[in-house]
Amino acid sequence: MDNASILLTAAILFCAIVFCYKVIVMSSRRSRDKNPLLQLEVPPGSLGWPFIGETIEFISSAYSDRPETFMNKRRHIYGKVFKSHIFGSPTVVSTDAEVTKFILQSDAKTFVPSYPKSLTELMGKTSILLINGSLQRRIHGLVGSFFKSPQLKAQITRDMQKYVQQSMECWRDDHPILIQDEAKNIAFQVLVKALISLDPGKGMEFLKKQFQEFILGLMSLPINVPGSRLHRSLQAKKRMSKLVKNIIKSKRDKGLIISTVAQDVVDVLLNDPHEQLTDDLIADNVIDMMIPGEDSVPVLITLAVKYLSDCPAALQQLTEENMKLKRSKAKLGEQLNWNDYLSLSFTQDVITETLRMGNIIIGVMRKATRDVEIKGHSIPKGWCVLAYFRSVHLDETNYEWPYQFYPWRWQHKEMVTSSNFTPFGGGQRLCPGLDLARLEASIFLHHLVTQFSWKAEDDTVVNFPTVRLKRRMPIWVERR
Ligand code: HEM
Repeated sequence: MDNASILLTAAILFCAIVFCYKVIVMSSRRSRDKNPLLQLEVPPGSLGWPFIGETIEFISSAYSDRPETFMNKRRHIYGKVFKSHIFGSPTVVSTDAEVTKFILQSDAKTFVPSYPKSLTELMGKTSILLINGSLQRRIHGLVGSFFKSPQLKAQITRDMQKYVQQSMECWRDDHPILIQDEAKNIAFQVLVKALISLDPGKGMEFLKKQFQEFILGLMSLPINVPGSRLHRSLQAKKRMSKLVKNIIKSKRDKGLIISTVAQDVVDVLLNDPHEQLTDDLIADNVIDMMIPGEDSVPVLITLAVKYLSDCPAALQQLTEENMKLKRSKAKLGEQLNWNDYLSLSFTQDVITETLRMGNIIIGVMRKATRDVEIKGHSIPKGWCVLAYFRSVHLDETNYEWPYQFYPWRWQHKEMVTSSNFTPFGGGQRLCPGLDLARLEASIFLHHLVTQFSWKAEDDTVVNFPTVRLKRRMPIWVERR
């Protein structure tokens, strides 16, 4: 083929793709025109290029230090709710707190979770993050009340204190401490204990190794062939599943009865009084619940250390508050309990402000199961919605100086429950681990500031595919 024929063929192919795309878009518009509800317009915006839509622009913005730039550009032109086309689907993006609240409060009659294919394959069909209806509500209720129980909070406090102490005892002042690695190590062990009662040792090391392989595939290309990222992650999940199923089997063999006090999430799910949940379902969910142990909670801790290092006034107030508690407990000869940690009001404000600025979970994705109308915008059935929390959390109409770490803004407590603040989602899927996340972060910060002063090295926050610190947050510590 000469150059001219190649160009001609490419031009014909391009025209054919554009033609097909127009036909699909026009036919979806025609079917909407027939629907009286959808006389309302789909929000303004651009669907971008055929097939790829605006995904490349979304991702390149997500990798930058200001991922919300993609949203800000469009908000400026179209308003807080606009249409786009990302990750292979036409999508309505909400950066509006009220619209986001409606999405979060809706059930499966209106929206169901919708995530990229690699993520759904790895999570498994029965993961709580993907299922709907009564089963999701039941599992949510079961694990939610277990995570809220004083007994588990006491156990988490004991474990967290023990692992933090063990880890900090080894810290020396002649080399930097990588806060992100330390926090991952500790939070993973604490959560795995709460999920499957596994103590540190060979089993834990094996699980950690497999888990790190598993998590790498969550945002990979959806190609499952030997050697591919997704394939390797699925293999790691199989190995973890086997380990968890052995634990389930030994509990079943011991003949656990309903009245037994649950020691871990496996017990809670095995004891479901409504129906016998399958081993696959229990294993899938337990493994998915390890994600916050390796990712969200350690990142929350690491970001708090980063923001505090950059804000000496906040660090000083936090240190004073924690020192005061430590001294008063020492006088009484008492250990700190979970209530003590959660009652440290400035420490809680620091964690809240870290959640607002850090946006560890940038938002949630759903798919409309029917034509929906929200606040004058229509979302056609089958379209995705992205409720993008980050834009709400960094909107200057919601927060003064939104890019400034300013924990004192949370002294007005009612703001924590407003729809402008949703780091843990909301509605039926509100994160059941939110108290635990705060508790773990409070314990880590307490032991850090009461035992050490430090100098942080420069580091930057990476926002995609998950939030983390580029250099794992190195600090040089000095024992107090
Ligand atoms: C900083 C830490 C954390 C953040 C930012 C976070 C954030 C979130 C968000 C935004 C959701 C809602 C997802 C949706 O609506 O689709 C969620 C759900 C969930 N989180 Fe967390 N989370 C954290 C820690 C934890 C911990 C420690 C656990 C304990 C295992 C946990 C367990 C769950 C579970 C099981 C769900 C699914 C709830 C459902 O769909 O019914 N999370 N989390």
